[in-house]
Amino acid sequence: LREIAKEKDLSGRKVLVTAGPTQEAIDPVRYITNHSSGKMGYALAKAAMLRGAQVTLVSGPCAIEPPPFVKLVPIVTAKEMFDAVTSVSFEQDIIIKAAAVADYRPAKVFDDKVKKQEGQMSIELEKTDDILQYLGENRVPGQFLCGFSMETQNMLGNSRAKLGKKHLDMVAANNLKVAGAGFQGDTNVLTLITQDEDVSLQLMSKEDAANIILDKILSIMKERKQ
Ligand code: CTP
Ligand code: CA
Repeated sequence: LREIAKEKDLSGRKVLVTAGPTQEAIDPVRYITNHSSGKMGYALAKAAMLRGAQVTLVSGPCAIEPPPFVKLVPIVTAKEMFDAVTSVSFEQDIIIKAAAVADYRPAKVFDDKVKKQEGQMSIELEKTDDILQYLGENRVPGQFLCGFSMETQNMLGNSRAKLGKKHLDMVAANNLKVAGAGFQGDTNVLTLITQDEDVSLQLMSKEDAANIILDKILSIMKERKQ
């Protein structure tokens, strides 16, 4: 019941969260994906809902229960996520992109199952559109844009570069090589990177991390009187 008693400091706000992996088909049987579980994004969507926000959750295929009282938009591919996000992004106050979107997809999807043959085979890949980059370049005034960043080296430098390149307000950066951080577990070790500072968070549950991310977003929005 403590959950329900949470302060409703996001009431009246529209929050869009993306979560999970995308799947990019090779043929009717196989696809390319990644290890994202969706737990961080689902924790964010739930925390925002409990704090009174009107939440839309655009999610790739995940094995976990979606939080209640959240508008779930299930998608499979990066292209579907792009379309789902951009069709509602203009009306959002806060967008948090926790999804692990495929950067590349097979250039051609085979209509029939590819049969094995002698020797090696290769698949040509083409780039997907960067959803967050698009949102940053087509900014809605007053909207808060938070990205995630997954790195295995130079986490701070690479993640700060994403903040600038994609015109974001915040990047929640993950070092996949730190114990307790990253894709599948129930905990995370994040660094919140903004224009002004880097805040390194301790190892904590994804629920706690979600609330700290929302606290930080709200405090920046308050400073800016948004
Ligand atoms: N992202 C996106 N659309 C893509 C790829 C990434 O919106 N096609 C978003 C992710 O949801 C995440 C942020 O961009 O919030 C950073 O993703 P990440 O994979 O860490 O970085 P990239 O910019 O894709 O660069 P790289 O994978 O090369 O590190
Ligand atoms: Ca990427």
